[in-house]
Amino acid sequence: MSNRTASVPRSADEIARSIEADLRSGARQPGDRLDPVRRAAERLGVAPGTVAAAYQELARRGTVVGQGRAGTFIAARPPVGAHGQVALPAGVVDLRSGNPDASFLPEMPRPPGDPVRYGTASVLPELAVAGRRWLEANGVDATHLAVVHGAMDGVERVLQAHLRPGDAIAVEDPGYPNVVDLARALGLAPVAVSLDGAGMEVAALAAVLRQVRAVVLTPRAQNPTGAAFTEARARLLREVLDRRPEVLVVEDDHNGDVAGVPLRSVAVGRERWAVVHSMAKTLGPDWRLALVAGDTATVDRVHSRLRLGSGWVSYELQRPVAAALADRRVRAQVRRAATAYGERRRALVEALRRRGIRAHGTSGFNVWVPVTDEAVVVAGLLSAGWGVQGGTRFRHHAPPGVRVSVSLLDPVDVERFAGAFADVVAGGEAGA
Ligand SMILES: Cc1ncc(COP(=O)(O)O)c(C=O)c1O
Repeated sequence: MSNRTASVPRSADEIARSIEADLRSGARQPGDRLDPVRRAAERLGVAPGTVAAAYQELARRGTVVGQGRAGTFIAARPPVGAHGQVALPAGVVDLRSGNPDASFLPEMPRPPGDPVRYGTASVLPELAVAGRRWLEANGVDATHLAVVHGAMDGVERVLQAHLRPGDAIAVEDPGYPNVVDLARALGLAPVAVSLDGAGMEVAALAAVLRQVRAVVLTPRAQNPTGAAFTEARARLLREVLDRRPEVLVVEDDHNGDVAGVPLRSVAVGRERWAVVHSMAKTLGPDWRLALVAGDTATVDRVHSRLRLGSGWVSYELQRPVAAALADRRVRAQVRRAATAYGERRRALVEALRRRGIRAHGTSGFNVWVPVTDEAVVVAGLLSAGWGVQGGTRFRHHAPPGVRVSVSLLDPVDVERFAGAFADVVAGGEAGA
């Protein structure tokens, strides 16, 4: 195996990535035979087991196929890079695509214009432009961009691009339980890392960094605590993460601009990184669309895998999202929403503080209130007519608390709610 990338690959993952890079650049082609393990190992100065592990990983992804004694070959259609069809000369009737005849398609509610067919770009060009503009304005390098079906879909695809069953990943404690459930469903081992109002705690992350292959973080609008990275915390987290450049860092920007604070990424520019930016909270949860920005290999793996399964995110979704991102009135509405959510958050934290109750929440929809007994508070508030979320589902080792989503709390109700909370704490909970 020749060294066609800038630096000599040393680990199995680097070897696999350099072969993928060769495929993208055209330096390797489908059907090419890889160097036998021993020869490649000698050339690279690594153990044969390292090369064998790289080939196994590529085989698992469908990029190479082993053919016994004949060796290991690049697959006929490896899931790497773009797979566009060769353009036909003018005048040639194209009977290759398997597209339906547009004149036989029923009238569906859709914008006028040609229906989208197989073979179109997986990212609508207008969304690529608008998405890149948004991401880059938020300090996220969006050279490589994929469009997926929501934040969690993006997190799943990015994890699958790099991790294998048995790998450990660092998750926030308390944190969004679906991330933990997803990790377990992928056969990964979640490792809880404590967090405060500024995000993951630096020492706690440093303590587990040796044992994990990935970290999933929420840079703002953390669920359930409303935490957001401060500039200082982001810097310290970057410093700690820099000690392990090979660790994948995934940021879940599920709240987007309605979080009310800037996105301060600690992932951008790493060897393996992704920022997943969802539309669910700015445009509404049924807009199953998120942008994924990341390094070349990560985004390419996400793209290539998407192509084999769901194909792409429907242009019926991509078009209006692209228009919304580019629309000043939509952006103004998002700013108004962020302001209103922020007012609700601050009003609640302040109303509780006046009653002697400490609550947290500097961004997004959630306020987290530490309590002694979650069940008593949840039940007490329920009987007073308020539903709040007990913290058990969100916690590993973190102390108890309840989550109040202020996104649906009418400002006129804040004082009444805080009063009910104080009554429950003073009555049932104090005695619990
Ligand atoms: C931290 C976090 N990530 C992701 C999501 C879901 O985002 P999406 O609907 O885009 O998958 C949520 C939903 O509340 C969330 O709290």
